[in-house]
Amino acid sequence: MAENIAAKQLETVLGHGNKDRATYTDISNPDREGGRYADESGEKMKALAWMGKNDVRVIEAGKPRIVEDHDAIIRVTGTTVCGSDVHLMHGVILQIEKGDILGHEFVGVVEAVGSAVTTLKPGERVVNSFVVSCGQCRYCKQKLTTACEKTNASTLHEKLYGSRMGGIFGYSHFTGGYAGGQAEYVRVPLADNNLMRLPHSIPDEKAIFLADVLPTSYHSVDYTGIREGDTVAIWGLGPIGLMACYWAFLKGAKRVIGIDNNERIEFAKSKLDKLETINFSTLAKGETLPAKIHEMVPGGVDVSIEASGGEYAKGFAHKLELWVGAEQDTSEMINECLESTRKFGTVGIIGDYAGFTNHFNVGALMERGIKLIGCGQAPTSLDWGDLLQMVEHGTVDPTMILTHRFKLEDIAKAYRLQEKREQGLVKCFVETRFSSRRAEGTPELTSL
Ligand SMILES: NC(=O)c1ccc[n+]([C@@H]2O[C@H](COP(=O)([O-])OP(=O)(O)OC[C@H]3O[C@@H](n4cnc5c(N)ncnc54)[C@H](O)[C@@H]3O)[C@@H](O)[C@H]2O)c1
Ligand SMILES: [Zn+2]
Ligand SMILES: [Zn+2]
Repeated sequence: MAENIAAKQLETVLGHGNKDRATYTDISNPDREGGRYADESGEKMKALAWMGKNDVRVIEAGKPRIVEDHDAIIRVTGTTVCGSDVHLMHGVILQIEKGDILGHEFVGVVEAVGSAVTTLKPGERVVNSFVVSCGQCRYCKQKLTTACEKTNASTLHEKLYGSRMGGIFGYSHFTGGYAGGQAEYVRVPLADNNLMRLPHSIPDEKAIFLADVLPTSYHSVDYTGIREGDTVAIWGLGPIGLMACYWAFLKGAKRVIGIDNNERIEFAKSKLDKLETINFSTLAKGETLPAKIHEMVPGGVDVSIEASGGEYAKGFAHKLELWVGAEQDTSEMINECLESTRKFGTVGIIGDYAGFTNHFNVGALMERGIKLIGCGQAPTSLDWGDLLQMVEHGTVDPTMILTHRFKLEDIAKAYRLQEKREQGLVKCFVETRFSSRRAEGTPELTSL
């Protein structure tokens, strides 16, 4: 938390990097700056806001208005909670501010469009890309939208990483300070580029997965180059890790090992027959995870993917170092990946890592010739078209990991369940007062 306050002071000193931006950033709540970004009608909406460390709440805020010609206003018909949102709630993502509206995955109906929007009309159903990108810069032209150079004004981001990445909805001022879609309405800047129109055949409960989970999990296996016959190990069996297991099999992996320490192991096995698993909390005393993997796959796996996240320290040293701010991420899972992978194999990181880490096993990386790949925030647009088709044709049914349905009014409680991984929650669909009737075969509403 102290890091967050320091980050804000530093940004003030460094100056906010507004040059060359393609859109107004840092409108993280329409009521900011005396309500100048709220609709003139005075209509109010419910929205989930960050109110302090470990404190997220449903608040009332003004309905957003069109601020720029390329904006669309979306009437949200479904949203969800992501593993990444838990990092925000914990305050481990820099430059989050009180009152910021969260949520980077949503589906809805176009309520209004600005005069420069050419591909969308009011009344059309859409899903967002969790990334806010301009569509024009050199990275966007290659569909590497998360690397967009024009949608994030955080100078701290640039100083910390060497150059700035693009914006993300509802994900702090470190990634543009955009209001998110865990709300009844949301403003989508550069709407032509950041929304995808949905066919009638795809209900909201499936479409929501196109905002993040499907592109991200798919990107992790594609970018690490998983091929026919490979052996693969994946750390974390949340929505991202579990779907990465699914894609690994689809790419022809011979064996896939999923690693976690809770009931998600059983859940994953029930969804993927061929999946092998390791519950790391049940390893024999003194037995390490890499040793277990070498026992299962002599020599190690071809590809390891880290899909849990850098805040989940296992041992005392890292817990302490994270707590006192001596590092921002644990290196434990990445070290495990390095040691579990065969010589000259590949390790990919798709779980979120924020900054510096200690005790990184650079020797294992160098000596054993491992290719260590930062998968980046997944560039949604890269595979969007293909994934839409795969959902439409049934190649993948993402609702296989949908376990709950909640009301927006209960979403703060859903954050707690997501954090504690309780009540068998893997992925939830959060309905609003604008939602359609529940799609057949998807979970019934649970009141919290
Ligand atoms: N790069 C991207 O574009 C992108 C996009 C979405 C999510 N993410 C990140 O990916 C990660 C996974 O997302 P999610 O929604 O599935 O999150 P999640 O929190 O639902 O799942 C993470 C899983 O990792 C498990 N885990 C924790 N510590 C572990 C360890 N030491 N070894 C193995 N497993 C461990 C947890 O028990 C949990 O089941 C998160 O860090 C999230 O922020 C990245
Ligand atoms: Zn997400
Ligand atoms: Zn761009």
